[in-house]
Amino acid sequence: MDILLYLPGDDLARWYAACAHYLPHARLRLWQEGDDDAADYALVWRPPAALLRARRGLRAIFNLGAGVDSILALESQHAGTLPEGVPLIRLDDAGMAQQMIDYVCHAVLHFFRRSDDYQRQQAAGVWQPLPAHRREDFVIGVMGLGRLGASVAAGLRPFGFAVRGWSRSLRNLEGVQCYAGQDQFDAFLQGCKVLVNLLPHTAQTQDILNQRTFAQLAHPAYLINVARGAHLVEADLLAAIEQGHIAGAALDVFREEPLPASHPFWQEPRIRITPHVSALTLPEDSIAQIAAKIAALARGEAVAGTVDLQRGY
Ligand SMILES: NC(=O)c1ccc[n+]([C@@H]2O[C@H](COP(=O)([O-])OP(=O)(O)OC[C@H]3O[C@@H](n4cnc5c(N)ncnc54)[C@H](OP(=O)(O)O)[C@@H]3O)[C@@H](O)[C@H]2O)c1
Repeated sequence: MDILLYLPGDDLARWYAACAHYLPHARLRLWQEGDDDAADYALVWRPPAALLRARRGLRAIFNLGAGVDSILALESQHAGTLPEGVPLIRLDDAGMAQQMIDYVCHAVLHFFRRSDDYQRQQAAGVWQPLPAHRREDFVIGVMGLGRLGASVAAGLRPFGFAVRGWSRSLRNLEGVQCYAGQDQFDAFLQGCKVLVNLLPHTAQTQDILNQRTFAQLAHPAYLINVARGAHLVEADLLAAIEQGHIAGAALDVFREEPLPASHPFWQEPRIRITPHVSALTLPEDSIAQIAAKIAALARGEAVAGTVDLQRGY
C-alpha cells in the first residue's frame, strides 16, 4: 500500500513512527512538487492543489484535521482539484475533543471567576475584591454539536452551568437544551452569557459571529472562538468590546494566521489570544484512527467522518 503524506512544518519523525506502528506494511512517501506517481491513500493537511489534481487512483483522502474548509476551498478555486469519486475523510475526534474540553472549560472558568478582571487589577497594582458572577447567570451556548461541540457541551455540565447547544439538525444531548436551524438561532442566543463557537467553516457559517449575533446575548457577554477565524467579523467584536457589550473574548483562530503583529487584537486587553492550539492533531491517535478506517474501507464498510461535499463538512 502506497501512502502520500503532506504536512507542512510538522513533526515528521513522530508521524513516520506512528505510521510504522499502525500501518507497518505501508510504503510512506512525503509528497513533493512534481510527484504524480500512483498512491493508494493521501494523508494531508492543507495540501496544494497540485497534490490532489488528477489523482484518480486514490482510494481515499484523509484530512489530518477535523475542518475540511481549506481542502474544499481548493475545489471552489480550481474546480476538479478533488478527484471524482474519491472519498474525503476527516479526523473524528482523534484526541481533539478532550483538548477542546480543557480549553473551553479553562476559558469559561477564567471569565466566570473574574480572572480577567483580577489580571488587569494586578497589572495596575490594585487590591479590590469584586462581586462574584452568579452561576445561574452563566448560560453557555455552544454553536455546533458535532464531535467536538457535543463533547464540550457535556464537559461543561459538571461545573453546574446551564448549557445550550445549536446545530443544523436537532440533537438530543443529556442536560443540554438543544436548538436547531436558522429558525431557532435567535432563541438559542437570547440570554447566553458565554458563546462558544465549534461550527465548521462553510458558506452558511462564515461571518456568523457578528454584531447582530452579539446583540442577542446577555449584556455583557463573553465569546470563545475555537473553530475558524472566518466565522468572526473582527471589526464587530472590537466595536462590541468598545461598547461594553462583550466583556471578554478567548480567540484561538483568526482570519489571518499567524495574527499579524499590527493587528488591533494584540492591543486589546479583553482579548486572550492563542495561536490555533485549542485542539492539536495528535499523530499517534490520528494514524491509529486512519489505519482502522483503511481496514474498514478494505472490507467495504462505510466509515465515520466521510465529508459530505455538498454540505461542506
Ligand atoms: N482551533 C482548533 O485547533 C480546531 C481543531 C479542530 C477543529 N476545529 C474546528 O472545529 C470544527 C468542528 O469540528 P467537529 O469535528 O465537531 O465537526 P462536526 O462533527 O462536523 O460538527 C459540526 C457541527 O456543526 C453543525 N453545523 C454545521 N453547519 C451548521 C449550520 N449552518 N447551522 C447550524 N449548525 C451547523 C453540525 O450540525 P449537524 O449536527 O446537524 O450536522 C454539527 O453539529 C471544525 O470544522 C474545525 O473548523 C478547530
